[in-house]
Amino acid sequence: MKDLKKNIGLPVKLDDNYQLIFENGLSKVLPAIRTIDEMREVLVDKTISSPKELYYMYRDVAFDKDRPMEKKYELRYDITVIRPDKLGDEFMKTAGHYHPGDYPELYEVVYGTAWCLLQKPSKKDYKVIEDVILVKAQTGDKIVCLPGYGHILINPSKNEPLVTSNWVGTRFSSDYSLYKEAEGAAYFYSEKNGKLKIEKNNFFTQVPKDIKQMVPSAKIEKFGLERNKPIYPIINNPDKLRFLNYPVEFDFSDAFVTKA
Ligand SMILES: [Fe+2]
Repeated sequence: MKDLKKNIGLPVKLDDNYQLIFENGLSKVLPAIRTIDEMREVLVDKTISSPKELYYMYRDVAFDKDRPMEKKYELRYDITVIRPDKLGDEFMKTAGHYHPGDYPELYEVVYGTAWCLLQKPSKKDYKVIEDVILVKAQTGDKIVCLPGYGHILINPSKNEPLVTSNWVGTRFSSDYSLYKEAEGAAYFYSEKNGKLKIEKNNFFTQVPKDIKQMVPSAKIEKFGLERNKPIYPIINNPDKLRFLNYPVEFDFSDAFVTKA
């Protein structure tokens, strides 16, 4: 059992089966479970049958007192738990999706290590990827998924789960179809015999030769973000989250810094 309270700013624990336990008046949320059968299309090895369950999506976690504010500002808070394991040689990952309307998203790494793979398709041809960014983040880091980019989360650890939380606007529904059609993101991350392997996805007719390696900025004041400071309480200062529903008003160029 892991107590996540300090990291997430909410009375939440993670049990040994990677399920969340909600305490102290925080209403219980049942997770949507992502299974291997739903993920098969986006995997390098489509023949594997385990692990059966990959990750758990706890959508719309909140204290009841915060719900009116969330409704008014069109915001939702979710928690995702990715099990530690491998998908054949490939690292554990999420299915991937785009946000119609080019809305961004705000993630925080509550526990573990996250690799967030962002990709920007051309507006003229979705088989052309103009930019790919791998954001390597640790516990306490905040990741701003940029407007116009699709994203997957990778758990590079076989031993430790990855727990993330996120704030997102409620004006759109995520579009998983293009990642399914492409059978994955622009690149696949695997590890064999201790060696990292990065493979290009041949569905795409054009991808940038270089993946930009970035790490999250330690502090982004205009969004109320600071490393090791949980994002849930930002609901008390909702103007800080305005960038999620009105991205054109904001500059996102300071979300990441280049990894040395
Ligand atoms: Fe998203």
